[in-house]
Amino acid sequence: MAEFDVVVIGAGAAGLFCAAQAGQRGLKVLLIDHSERIAEKIRISGGGRCNFTNRDLDPRAPQKHFVGDNPNFCRSALSRYTSQQFIALVDRHGIAHHEKHKGQLFCDGPSQQIIDMLLAECADGKVTHWQPCSVKSVAYSATDGNGSGSYQLETSRGSVAATNIVIATGGLSIPQLGASDFGYRMARQFGLDVIPPRPALVPLTFAGEGWAPYAGLAGLTLPVQIETGAKKERMAFLEDLLFTHRGLSGPAVLQISSYWKEGTPLTIDFAPGTDVAAALGEAKARSRKRIGNELASLVPSRLADALVDGEPALQRPINEAADRALQALAERIARWQITPAGTEGYKKAEVTAGGVDTRELSSQTMESKKQPGLYFIGEVVDVTGWLGGYNFQWAWASAFACAVAL
Ligand code: FDA
Repeated sequence: MAEFDVVVIGAGAAGLFCAAQAGQRGLKVLLIDHSERIAEKIRISGGGRCNFTNRDLDPRAPQKHFVGDNPNFCRSALSRYTSQQFIALVDRHGIAHHEKHKGQLFCDGPSQQIIDMLLAECADGKVTHWQPCSVKSVAYSATDGNGSGSYQLETSRGSVAATNIVIATGGLSIPQLGASDFGYRMARQFGLDVIPPRPALVPLTFAGEGWAPYAGLAGLTLPVQIETGAKKERMAFLEDLLFTHRGLSGPAVLQISSYWKEGTPLTIDFAPGTDVAAALGEAKARSRKRIGNELASLVPSRLADALVDGEPALQRPINEAADRALQALAERIARWQITPAGTEGYKKAEVTAGGVDTRELSSQTMESKKQPGLYFIGEVVDVTGWLGGYNFQWAWASAFACAVAL
């Protein structure tokens, strides 16, 4: 039977980084992945340019950029391995990068550079790779009286024994790239709670009468303010919105999707920063153009048409419009309320929210509080970042916290 200090299961962002760090600290590490090609999500991330971290991440206020039952859980790990440290690593490997938007750092070249960097770091740590390799079973035996035990894994490449196992198998998003529920099954096998997983950073779908006027707008993009939730739970983003064939997408909708609760509405301001009621009132006083044409100076003309189509009170020159009709139109532009029918699901979700309950893990080390030597890192944990490099930074930081504790 092969013997290792640690077996890391899942060679994505978190698993590769953890294996490399643990190996470089002198541990004998085996990294297992069931896919032919590892780190596929890094390869396709950031439109092929990998948005590998975010400069604006403030580890002291993780609730600003992370969602989960307890967003403060990630504070310790994010403070001990910061975006600046990852940028320094990327710089040491000579990978050119640039800031795109709101602190988001992308490679100038293909994302493969980040994968190559992680593989080089693994080589430095003399990490053994088994892939494709599937793990059939994991068992634990407490071998001595002082609490240390060992894990026995049955895999498609034979049996392995290890003192520690690290689960880095990610979430359920993009099943065609090898996503599996392995991590959640492992958690349950060892008695850890799992917060029900759900698709996040995902396009939303719409149906029914309220959506019908907008169904033909596929391809249209515009900046909006989007919000959901009430009072303390209210969340808002100022970002681009994209109309699709089945609903809404773009950064505004991906971000809000992580906070959206089924059956609740979204409120969208199609002209953020503009007092639409005042602008329409002013147009009424000076113009004889049709309302739809005037509206096209405030929002894209295809959207302007959709907003006035089918409304007899709005099919006329603006100077002849009733004040009440213009007020209702202004309200619809500034506070359009619509309830999504659902999401595009895991096939299109960038991440999976929910996951291993953070109350089960040490925030310092990512080790299970119940099961010695069992660690969970990356997306499999109930920590979900905003769009913009936050999820990779969580993968690096949780991997680092675990590796230094092994
Ligand atoms: P990850 O999913 O990366 O890796 C899990 C690994 O485990 C995979 O290699 C898989 O094959 C393996 N595995 C699964 N089940 C297994 C099993 N049963 N046995 C063995 N191995 C198993 N984030 C960001 O910060 N910036 C960005 O630009 C993007 N862009 C982006 C685009 C798209 C299209 C997606 C889908 C996602 C992103 N993300 C992102 C999110 C980011 O990719 C994600 O949060 C991290 O990859 C999570 O890293 P993990 O290592 O936890 O899982």
